[in-house]
Amino acid sequence: MHRGKGMKFVGDSRIPAERKPNIPKDYSEYPGKTEAFWPNFLLKEWMVGAVFLVGYLCLTVAHPSPLERVADPTDAGYIPLPDWYFLFLYQLLKYTYASGPYNVIGAFIIPGLAFGALLLAPFIDRGPERRPIKRPFATGFMLLALASVVFLTWESVVNHDWEAAKAQGQIVEGPEIDQNSEGFQIYQENGCINCHGETLTGGAAAPSLVGTGLSPDEIKTIAVEGVGTMPPDQFKGTDEELGKLAEFISTLEAE
Ligand code: HEC
Repeated sequence: MHRGKGMKFVGDSRIPAERKPNIPKDYSEYPGKTEAFWPNFLLKEWMVGAVFLVGYLCLTVAHPSPLERVADPTDAGYIPLPDWYFLFLYQLLKYTYASGPYNVIGAFIIPGLAFGALLLAPFIDRGPERRPIKRPFATGFMLLALASVVFLTWESVVNHDWEAAKAQGQIVEGPEIDQNSEGFQIYQENGCINCHGETLTGGAAAPSLVGTGLSPDEIKTIAVEGVGTMPPDQFKGTDEELGKLAEFISTLEAE
């Protein structure tokens, strides 16, 4: 009697008890349908990859990304918009029970349920049928999800103010502004910058101050008395500063 005969000693579950010889499977039944991975298959992969890479490069050159003006952290009126594939989530957050005090529902619970269901689908729906028509629940939920995504995307597109979006992101050629100049300092200290922006080209909250054609006196009046929707008493400095500020703004010309 040998010790341990008929018994298998396996300490590590990752090591198979029976050693199989490392011989590739026999594909001789499929003549002409197989090929060596190296180099034949990899070479083909790389060639396809190269075609796509060059294609994307050409596309980016021919159709540059639609850039907006440089982001201005002082422009609190800017309304950002997600890319098209996230518009449905963006739209969802506009409904009463998904926004404001109910933000958690719109931002976590609803998307969480949807993606959680997607994650659990293989465990819940374990029927052997493969044809969509024979899997009414899975197919039904998928169509429902698809319809909601299409509907929400559509709603967000038709409800968005595209004109305003274009205006707020427009690249306005502004003058070179010396941020160390006295005029700019006064502009900043009096908070004009909060509405008219760092480059004085305005934003969603206020118009551009470049090339207004206003005289220094007119600008002085506006800074003190306001105009239209601009509230009065924006300027809080001395008369001398007011003169410098007005002079500074009146000389701004687009290049
Ligand atoms: C609360 C936001 C806000 C602040 C702060 C503000 N403005 Fe304005 N400003 C506006 C708005 C809005 C308008 C456009 C008013 C309208 O035409 O109805 C405007 C218009 C103007 C105009 C007229 C522009 C034109 O082309 O007619 C001038 C000049 C101006 N602002 C100067 C200033 C100065 C100088 C300061 C700082 C002392 C200042 N603003 C601070 C909101 C602001």
